[in-house]
Amino acid sequence: MDDNLRILVFTDLHSEIIDNAEKRVDSIINSAKANYVDLIINIGDFGYHGNTSESLCEEENQPVNYNIFYSQKSNKYMLRTRELLDKFDDLNLPILHTLGNHDMDFNSKETAVEDYGMINNYYYYDIKNFRIIVLDTNYYLDENNNEISYKFGNNFNQKNKAVLPYEQVEWLKIAVETEKNLIICSHNVLNDDPRGIGNHQVVDDILNNTGKKILALSGHKHIDKLTIKDNLSFLEVNSVSYYWLGEDKKVNTNYPADYLKEHPVLPYILRYPDPLYAIISLENEDVTVKGRGRDISLSEEEKEKIDNPNVTSKMKDYKF
Ligand SMILES: [Fe+2]
Repeated sequence: MDDNLRILVFTDLHSEIIDNAEKRVDSIINSAKANYVDLIINIGDFGYHGNTSESLCEEENQPVNYNIFYSQKSNKYMLRTRELLDKFDDLNLPILHTLGNHDMDFNSKETAVEDYGMINNYYYYDIKNFRIIVLDTNYYLDENNNEISYKFGNNFNQKNKAVLPYEQVEWLKIAVETEKNLIICSHNVLNDDPRGIGNHQVVDDILNNTGKKILALSGHKHIDKLTIKDNLSFLEVNSVSYYWLGEDKKVNTNYPADYLKEHPVLPYILRYPDPLYAIISLENEDVTVKGRGRDISLSEEEKEKIDNPNVTSKMKDYKF
């Protein structure tokens, strides 16, 4: 029995952007109960953890969604996040949180760690015959190659890729030394990808050197994709809520004006009708993924504005 583990994994809820975050969280909780999962994993970008007035991002560097929230100078998003996180308390299940880039948009990393109730920004958790390693990839290198931790949106002032800092690389080498099966969680994908991490090769070498088949879960890109390379299976989990169309790709919507005022970022997203997440069953190194959701028919305008072949309002089933 210890060789079997069942996880509900979700990512990128973005409760600051999506209009029905509460419904989506309720769906996650009900599914966790119905599927008798052993634990829940959140791969980041759950919502805002601070008042949207404090920023280290120059106004001219602020992405459109960031600027909308910054101009509101509001604590309602922070309060919404807390309310939603509280919902998980009654479940009596472990929930492992991973930091996403937007978790530090308007606050320090320490605040995000505290709000989520994490023991640290990176850690591992042993359950049954599995070790789940949670990494924090929210760092960039400045012009002097110093590792800078994301805080108050400072990362939007520059364009460098995320990196896993030296301290975590060294820690990871020790953390993988176990008899247990390994699962790795990080907001950015750990393989070679424009939106992955700059030092992915160092990390992949550490993981491959274990000689084990490892499941690596990530979010961030709001797509559903599986890439298997040697012993590593990179499962990119789709967002619970939407695909980001783009800064300059605002679409015409039918939402009433006062609804849009309350949810001003809706015209920039492809909103998923169903909340997306996956139930992952592991039996030693064998993985079965049960996805959910349905395809939606896109408007011509939306089709034109989607730039990625992996965009889908579904999370597929997989077996590997
Ligand atoms: Fe993200």
